[in-house]
Amino acid sequence: MKKISGNIVELTVNDLDKCRSFWDIPSKLAAPMTSGEKKAFAYRSGYTYIGGCALSIKENRGLFSYFAVSPDFRGNGIGSRIINFAAIYFMNMGLKEMRLHVHKNNTGAIRLYERNGFVYDSDITSEKIAMIKTL
Ligand SMILES: CC(C)(COP(=O)(O)OP(=O)(O)OC[C@H]1O[C@@H](n2cnc3c(N)ncnc32)[C@H](O)[C@@H]1OP(=O)(O)O)[C@@H](O)C(=O)NCCC(=O)NCCS
Repeated sequence: MKKISGNIVELTVNDLDKCRSFWDIPSKLAAPMTSGEKKAFAYRSGYTYIGGCALSIKENRGLFSYFAVSPDFRGNGIGSRIINFAAIYFMNMGLKEMRLHVHKNNTGAIRLYERNGFVYDSDITSEKIAMIKTL
């Protein structure tokens, strides 16, 4: 694990193009960002964006989505830092719970979520589960 210095910044719609190394189709976030439904954040190291997530609030719960780190930078703790940032963000908004959806076969991500305090909540479809973390 190498320490990759950087910090987490909020993205504008104009920044989305710089996030192609970790989001397949960053422009999918443009509409929910413009409507105010989601806020997008990225881990920035120098001028390079290397990981990100989107945050929204529904029924008094924080929703964590679009979570990804550039393949070249995985395994260095950046994912955990993004999760931690999201938990603090939602906590500061007074929320008590944070939630996400993950494919059942994404065992690496599920293990990472469990290490960061998430537990299984429910099945969403035959392929996806919801996990929650108490804040
Ligand atoms: C899940 C993801 C965001 C984690 O980011 P990260 O910066 O590698 O996370 P961390 O370094 O904090 O933690 C590493 C853990 O991530 C998991 N992981 C998944 N794919 C990995 C990869 N290619 N390399 C290293 N770790 C990976 C492992 O569980 C690892 O933990 P381990 O040490 O128990 O094996 C990243 O692997 C990713 O972008 N995956 C593809 C997109 C995805 O699956 N997103 C989640 C959708 S719900």
